[in-house]
Amino acid sequence: MSNLCDVGVDPRCWYPACRTDELRPGQAIEVRFLGRSYVVFRDRAGAAHCLDNACAHRRVALHEGEVRDCRIVCPYHGWEFGPDGALERIPYWEEDEELPRLRVRGFPVTERSGLVWFVPEPVDPLPPPPPDTSAWDDGGEWFSFRQDRVFHNHYGIGLINGMDYTHFHLHRKYQPWSRLRLLGLTADDGRVSGSYEVTSGRGRAERVLRLLLGADRAAPTVSHPLEVHYDYPHHQAVLGDGMVVWVFFRPEERDRVTVYITLYIRARRGTRRLRQVAEPFFRRLVLARIQEQDAWIGVREQVAWESRPDEPRCELNPVSAAAERLLRARWQSYARQAGPPAGRWPAARLPGPDRRTASLGVEPASLGAEPASLGAGPDENA
Ligand code: FES
Ligand SMILES: [Fe+2]
Repeated sequence: MSNLCDVGVDPRCWYPACRTDELRPGQAIEVRFLGRSYVVFRDRAGAAHCLDNACAHRRVALHEGEVRDCRIVCPYHGWEFGPDGALERIPYWEEDEELPRLRVRGFPVTERSGLVWFVPEPVDPLPPPPPDTSAWDDGGEWFSFRQDRVFHNHYGIGLINGMDYTHFHLHRKYQPWSRLRLLGLTADDGRVSGSYEVTSGRGRAERVLRLLLGADRAAPTVSHPLEVHYDYPHHQAVLGDGMVVWVFFRPEERDRVTVYITLYIRARRGTRRLRQVAEPFFRRLVLARIQEQDAWIGVREQVAWESRPDEPRCELNPVSAAAERLLRARWQSYARQAGPPAGRWPAARLPGPDRRTASLGVEPASLGAEPASLGAGPDENA
């Protein structure tokens, strides 16, 4: 067993940079991935671009500069770089003199499923496009809400948490079901899928879920199939025929991952109003609290890995074990081709008092979240 927090992710995949509506024309933001900094900007015509966030001149970060037409302008000496990273203008250069041929590295960008995506290590051909959620976005039969968040734990801790429904002890106050059975598991070198069955009774959260799913209200208990998928490197969960959750990860540091979560709920004609009334309760009283508890335990599992990296873990849920195997195997396969991973992640550091008040830096406003402090328990955080 080696430290899960030393395991990276394959950068030759699509990762979300931000929500589409969080990047206005003329705006540039810093996006971090595996300890490196990227600038993502939207030009005045509306197209998004991604470059290495370091000016070719003196390596100053470009995201603090301005966007002029389709170029990003460095805040220091004003060098201007085009969408592909080529140097296109130096403000003090004589017009009749040829510009030096310089560039910063550019990365492929696409917009899909309400997100701006980039490939941090481009390959030819490009990886298959990121997941398409338009089947749920466009039909009018579903409504959706977002639960995006920064988690202060390693990507793998969050991913395995999402695949592992046996941790419902942690969420016992808010979990919208009271019984869980594991039915099956399939796995290959790109995907792990687990099948559970969940049963909801008459607890408060359970009743809200039953209402949202349109389940028989008279029955004492209602069971639903729950499918979870790890489509490397992202995650999807499907509950019955009424709820779908897409979870897209951007691993930033060894103890920080930004997660874009969209939850879709089916609202058949006639029941839409009822479910839309139930939705804010479900989001605030159930999901937000469950997420707070996951953030809280994520910091603790990070401490457990960093302080006892080599002690055995006795994972009894085959879905979690398969997800971890896939995560480690994909990283090893990438590292074998790309060279030793040393230096790709900052060194281990245990969360300490300094981090409790640490600023989270520049990030889309909707993602603002303080680290789950080590002083408070999950219920106090809720
Ligand atoms: S450092 Fe960017 S223009 Fe000089
Ligand atoms: Fe959880």
